[in-house]
Amino acid sequence: MQTSDVRPEIRPDVRLVPARAEHLDVWLEIRAGATSRRLLPLEEVPRESLLRRLSESSSDILDLQATSFRWMVESEGRIIGTVSARELSRFHGRVEVGYMLAEGSLGRGLGTRAVALLLERLYTIPSLHHIWLTTTVANLASQGVARKLGFRLEGVLRGHCIVQGERMDQQVWGLLRPEWEARRGELSLEPPRR
Ligand SMILES: CC(C)(COP(=O)(O)OP(=O)(O)OC[C@H]1O[C@@H](n2cnc3c(N)ncnc32)[C@H](O)[C@@H]1OP(=O)(O)O)[C@@H](O)C(=O)NCCC(=O)NCCS
Repeated sequence: MQTSDVRPEIRPDVRLVPARAEHLDVWLEIRAGATSRRLLPLEEVPRESLLRRLSESSSDILDLQATSFRWMVESEGRIIGTVSARELSRFHGRVEVGYMLAEGSLGRGLGTRAVALLLERLYTIPSLHHIWLTTTVANLASQGVARKLGFRLEGVLRGHCIVQGERMDQQVWGLLRPEWEARRGELSLEPPRR
């Protein structure tokens, strides 16, 4: 067996970089991707609101005042997506995550790897126990990422959102710290050797 046959998720060169105001245009482009528009309950948000979100999110996991975080996903020197965490409760030990890749970067394992890096970073917060996310029932790629990373389906919010005019069910997926600790050992989080 060749090395490249082992653990395919280790191959993509993916890293998380701090999200800054200068990423606004690329973030808008990513949000405009056909797959995101087809599958995500995205509201039309003015540029200024997204800019505010960028400035209000932290990219410093050690920032004790932060309750929302955002990083951009970089691969081969290009920004190809974004990952985020919001409504962190240090008291309850929970946070909701989100992720989105550019249209040209889908289906190559990059999403799994980027979200794994996000989880790794978030679980450095000592009190964090439960990481959760929602995804529409039609979004098989998002469900695939969640499943691969050890999330479990926790429930369905019926008729919870509207995507392109259609009311849809939304799934809730959750991951507990011990489940991540068991799963992370099976994934390699280091960048590939050149
Ligand atoms: C969701 C998203 C981040 C997943 O990242 P990705 O790089 O495309 O997905 P991966 O290649 O890592 O695939 C992970 C798993 O999902 C499954 N999967 C991926 N694309 C799929 C598709 N189009 N249909 C069905 N399953 C799919 C595969 O089973 C894969 O597992 P495998 O490698 O064992 O086959 C990405 O597709 C994306 O940004 N989509 C648009 C925005 C979005 O949906 N964000 C999530 C909101 S909840």
